[in-house]
Amino acid sequence: MTTTGELEFSPLEDADVEAVISLWDACGLTRPHNNPAADLAFARDKPASAVLVGKAAGEIAAAVMVGHDGHRGTVYYVAVDPAHQNGGLGRYVMEEAEEWLRSRGVWKLNLMMRAENEKVRGFYERLGYEVEDRIVMTRWIDPSKRPGSA
Ligand SMILES: CC(C)(COP(=O)(O)OP(=O)(O)OC[C@H]1O[C@@H](n2cnc3c(N)ncnc32)[C@H](O)[C@@H]1OP(=O)(O)O)[C@@H](O)C(=O)NCCC(=O)NCCS
Repeated sequence: MTTTGELEFSPLEDADVEAVISLWDACGLTRPHNNPAADLAFARDKPASAVLVGKAAGEIAAAVMVGHDGHRGTVYYVAVDPAHQNGGLGRYVMEEAEEWLRSRGVWKLNLMMRAENEKVRGFYERLGYEVEDRIVMTRWIDPSKRPGSA
């Protein structure tokens, strides 16, 4: 367990899975084409990825999925309980993710967001993130996973 600001972080435990999915729902992060339980299972407790859960007074208040690909780090599902937003916990959860990466020798974090999400962009810019002029290209290696393909 580690402490960042007011949050005590630990890797996701079985008992927290449902609560983290509820947190993602409350934050509007779940999508019909993504299975959150499968996403959690895939990312947790791997050498190159983890789901870090932040608790305040024993209650889940924030979480982040963090990982690296052997070169750069990234985060997904950055979430602060709506009841606790705008109180500094988002900064702590990103600091925790950055420390997770730094301790594994990763020195740069790239993250993606929807272009129209000005609110979240403001948050990341406040934390020192910059927009880089790159194009994200994707290909469905497993086309059956593509939304609407079934
Ligand atoms: C985005 C999110 C994680 C931010 O968490 P938060 O706890 O509200 O953010 P914080 O209070 O820690 O804000 C950190 C800093 O960013 C600033 N900030 C936050 N939103 C901002 C905005 N839209 N514009 C400018 N600054 C902003 C805060 O004022 C604060 O600055 P300070 O530390 O200098 O006072 C949270 O709103 C959330 O869970 N949103 C829903 C899920 C989501 O969209 N996740 C991101 C997916 S890409």
